[in-house]
Amino acid sequence: MPVNRVLNGTIWKDTDGNPIHAHGGGFLKKDGYFYWFGENRTEGKLVSCYRSKDLVSWEFCNHVVTRNTHPELSRANAERPKVTYNEKTGRYVMWLHWENGIDYSEARCAVLVCDTVDGDYSYLRSFRPKGHMSRDCTLFKDDDGTAYFVSAARENADLHVYRLSDDYLDIASLEKVLWPGQKREAPAIVKRGDYYFLITSGCTGWEPNQGKYAYSASITGEWSDLFDIGSPTTFDTQPTYILTIQGSETTSYIYVGDRWDPSNYFNSSYVFLPLSFDTETSMSLDWASSITIDVQTGLMEAESEKSGLWRLRMGLRYLSAKGVESAGATYVYGARLSCADQDQLWVVERVSGDIIRIRHHVSGKYIEPEDSSSQEGTRIILSGKLDHARQEWRVIPAAEGHVKLQNVHTGLALKLERARERGQADLLIQAPLSSSPGGPWDVNSVLLAEVYR
Ligand code: DGJ
Repeated sequence: MPVNRVLNGTIWKDTDGNPIHAHGGGFLKKDGYFYWFGENRTEGKLVSCYRSKDLVSWEFCNHVVTRNTHPELSRANAERPKVTYNEKTGRYVMWLHWENGIDYSEARCAVLVCDTVDGDYSYLRSFRPKGHMSRDCTLFKDDDGTAYFVSAARENADLHVYRLSDDYLDIASLEKVLWPGQKREAPAIVKRGDYYFLITSGCTGWEPNQGKYAYSASITGEWSDLFDIGSPTTFDTQPTYILTIQGSETTSYIYVGDRWDPSNYFNSSYVFLPLSFDTETSMSLDWASSITIDVQTGLMEAESEKSGLWRLRMGLRYLSAKGVESAGATYVYGARLSCADQDQLWVVERVSGDIIRIRHHVSGKYIEPEDSSSQEGTRIILSGKLDHARQEWRVIPAAEGHVKLQNVHTGLALKLERARERGQADLLIQAPLSSSPGGPWDVNSVLLAEVYR
């Protein structure tokens, strides 16, 4: 079988040339095909199904759940659909996260069923499992046929592991509360050897964050602590599934991630990245710009290139050079992540030691405080002038892989000034260096996030 390349983070098209809409997806193997089910938010659709023999070329099968499937779906949000096959009933069962289409307050799961893998699924009902809130979710079927539903409960504070009834249509019991209070979502589970692995993200909406994993010898038993996996933004993705490729030479494991675009959902893409295991209980994830997968042998090859570009994130806003123009100055501002926006791409130049300059990669301009002013609250602008001390920033380590940037000339630090009113831009100013430990939610902290593409 010819082995083609998976180009990560690009918009993937099906064999008809249409963009694949299968976000927050799950997979099922049947008769030599990988079936991929995922969210489709285009007009009237909810869950679409594609299939492939080589994981590169995807054939559209059906919009398996639409707004017409059931009155309860006519306005609903249906997220993270996962399908598994029940040997006892001979039916395919889908679980997903159900919301009212307005906000995320319902926190319910929904169950659908079908006699064929890619037929029109019938909606059974939505509910809160054993009365608990239920948002991001996944399904996992164990070797003995027992299936589990894992979902974020208690306002996403905890992850619950539920055992399903024999027909997979209901919850039998709440088996386990994982990492109480640690606010994890986007769970994906795989079994490798004697251990179960779970990958999960933190809770930052559509913006990416540090992925973590844990392992356990028993899905309902004790799980390890959570360990970091991938980059601080999990290569700008959020987990959704782990594919197992059982080949003649080896068994490979693929991390399937959504690269959400918070500025334009329809620009969201996917990544397939090889997972590696140094020991029976340790897992790691590296960036690959593209991979080849030989589904016959199970062998994978990855290629990776450095972009040399960075995004600077402060309190979930990204430094943007598009600028707010006023009196000849271009103010840098904080925008929502946009995967396509060149104005969010920066080059970080090391001047010496811990001193850097930050250059917008398109215009070549540098960020600096307006008018070289040492006043607190002065806005940050883009300047085309070269070699100003005021363009130099000292990198000071802060919590959770973040840094604070202190201007060498003024002694003040970069700060995100949130807009006071809706519709106004979040601006960047200089302010006294805070003594807070900093971190993802801190307006004085910067995440220097490498751009992976
Ligand atoms: C992150 C979740 O993982 C997504 O599935 C989606 O629910 C977004 N949050 C909504 O903000």
